[in-house]
Amino acid sequence: MSVVEELTDGVQRPPAEVRFADELARLREADTGPRPPGWALSLTAARRFIVGDPELGVSRKFVGDPSLIDRALVALATSRGLMLVGEPGTAKSLLSELLAAAVSGVSTLTIQGGAATTEDQIKYSWNYALLVAEGPSERALVRAPLLRGMAEGRVVRFEEITRCPLEVQDSLLSPLSDRVMAIPELTGPGAMVFARDGFNVIATANTRDRGVNEMSAALKRRFNFETVFPIADFATELALVEAEAGALLRRSGVTAAPRLDVLEVLVTTFRELRTGQSARGDTMDRLSSVMSTAEAVSVAHAVGLRGWFLRGEPGTAEDFVACLAGTAAKDSPEDLAKLRRYLEQQVLGRSGAQWKALHAARRHLPG
Ligand SMILES: Nc1ncnc2c1ncn2[C@@H]1O[C@H](COP(=O)(O)OP(=O)(O)OP(=O)(O)O)[C@@H](O)[C@H]1O
Ligand SMILES: [Mg+2]
Repeated sequence: MSVVEELTDGVQRPPAEVRFADELARLREADTGPRPPGWALSLTAARRFIVGDPELGVSRKFVGDPSLIDRALVALATSRGLMLVGEPGTAKSLLSELLAAAVSGVSTLTIQGGAATTEDQIKYSWNYALLVAEGPSERALVRAPLLRGMAEGRVVRFEEITRCPLEVQDSLLSPLSDRVMAIPELTGPGAMVFARDGFNVIATANTRDRGVNEMSAALKRRFNFETVFPIADFATELALVEAEAGALLRRSGVTAAPRLDVLEVLVTTFRELRTGQSARGDTMDRLSSVMSTAEAVSVAHAVGLRGWFLRGEPGTAEDFVACLAGTAAKDSPEDLAKLRRYLEQQVLGRSGAQWKALHAARRHLPG
């Protein structure tokens, strides 16, 4: 087994730098461009890692406007952080992982923001046994991602930053502006940690949670904001869902993925329920549940699993209806009713075998 195989064997989702170790190695080898201080790759090589480069056998990982990637990379080379905002499931987390892997070679210096996030989880805490035995010392210090990123000169990811209490968010202020973190418990040179070249922060926030408008103006000023939009083009979204769900199904041991015409119906349904516009141009009910591309990928995966593990064949439109309710009708009973109306009224009369099968399968909707 190669080193990469050993690291990925049985792991559900290895980090990007492990999943794409070969691609990163090839990019590094061919990379002749100038690198910002502390970066593992030049800006152009980092960009190719994310948008793809067929000549070097580098896959396209993020689908969308390539100029967004350029702006994001330039922001990371400045002394301001990068804030990725957008609707849920638009690949903000994926993009931040890819950017960190490209710029620093590591995407795992990650803080997961939430209502219970504390400063300890961002900066540092103590190994209590050592603290009691020998007092505060560098040995007793437990370094959290922000401190490590500063000391090692790497990119730190802060997921869902707006879900943290405001005073915790503000603990980023001095690391981002003065590029230093004080550890008042320590004496000597260890009491001040200065950020090394290559350190920066990528934060993500989604527009459905508590918003970025509550963030303090002081902190907002220290970030460059970029909005990540849902995939606009149908064919692009379909190709992504096919490729991503196919890869997930192969990992699950499924050898017969759902047919393309089934996925076409699936992606169309997601887009229509997301936007409240049918492909024919009719206005219809939007769901309040999130119907993003990420959800479409995971439902396509479930459809394939259902067909294969229940019957030993590719998933069908009927499997799709059975999997849909768990995603599309989460918190509001209204959504289930809207979904039923969609299957009864909008889908009726569409041409194509899979649309007919979808209409016929509406009775599989639970409830
Ligand atoms: N533009 C895109 N390019 C590539 N993959 C995408 C894109 N949009 C959605 N996806 C799919 O969505 C998945 C990523 O979702 P991710 O968790 O990164 O979204 P998110 O924006 O962070 O969502 P949330 O706001 O809920 O945290 C990817 O693994 C991929 O399957
Ligand atoms: Mg996310």
